[in-house]
Amino acid sequence: MKAPGKRALRVFRTKEALDGFMAWEWTVACRRAVARSGRFTAALSGGTTPVSFYVRLAAPGRGLPWDRTYIFQADERCVPSDHPDSNFGLIESKLLRHIPIPQENIYAVRAELGPEAAAAEYDARLRDFFGSTNGEIPRFDLILLGMGEDGHTASLFPGDAALAETRHLAAAVARAAPDHDRVTLTLPVIRAARVVAFLVAGANKAAVLKSVIDAPEKGPPAALARSSAGRTFYLVDQEAGSRLSSREQRSAGERVHVLQ
Ligand code: 6PG
Repeated sequence: MKAPGKRALRVFRTKEALDGFMAWEWTVACRRAVARSGRFTAALSGGTTPVSFYVRLAAPGRGLPWDRTYIFQADERCVPSDHPDSNFGLIESKLLRHIPIPQENIYAVRAELGPEAAAAEYDARLRDFFGSTNGEIPRFDLILLGMGEDGHTASLFPGDAALAETRHLAAAVARAAPDHDRVTLTLPVIRAARVVAFLVAGANKAAVLKSVIDAPEKGPPAALARSSAGRTFYLVDQEAGSRLSSREQRSAGERVHVLQ
């Protein structure tokens, strides 16, 4: 496995400041990608943490090239898109319906097929889009992730077989009720990304964030989900960052931990 890329962590006093910084990171990654390849590819997560960021990103006046932007999903629950637990339903309602992105630029997991078929179909569509027909792993420009209290990210849960998947780009994940079966990008796809961005907020994430930061290669799935050649950063609020004790540098009123 290639040596991991750089990691950085920023602690913000408010979620608003965190979202603003992520909007800036998105804009930089987007403009760089469009200048380099003519397009920007991003995979988005569900959950509650990114909602306010999606709302902020959808605000008019950013001048983002949405016609050159391609939106994918980091993971999905196998429910209809109008189900309250649908990640696509969330991303569509908070971001996609508010921006001038062509429908053909949106690659949603086809959850209605059920986990196995949806994973296979998404895998095939990813290979087709990225032209990775002979096995190489597609390289997203940015993958936006959250972190569960158990250390899961996307739908890669501790101890789940999907964590060991190295051939497929997407995997089915069986979950017991009240959760739902899921489809997730696999670790090789996340590790190939140019930028992996984590948004983490709330005191309930402090312990898991510390385990991720302090044990980069042995920790939970969220610790393994880092770019191998690009950048991984963690944007966290003060509550989530409250148990971090690594080296820090103060700059611009935020605590920036420069990680190995
Ligand atoms: C999902 C998400 C998941 C999420 C974490 C954190 O489908 O549930 O993709 O990986 O990012 O569970 O969720 P919160 O942001 O709600 O804490």
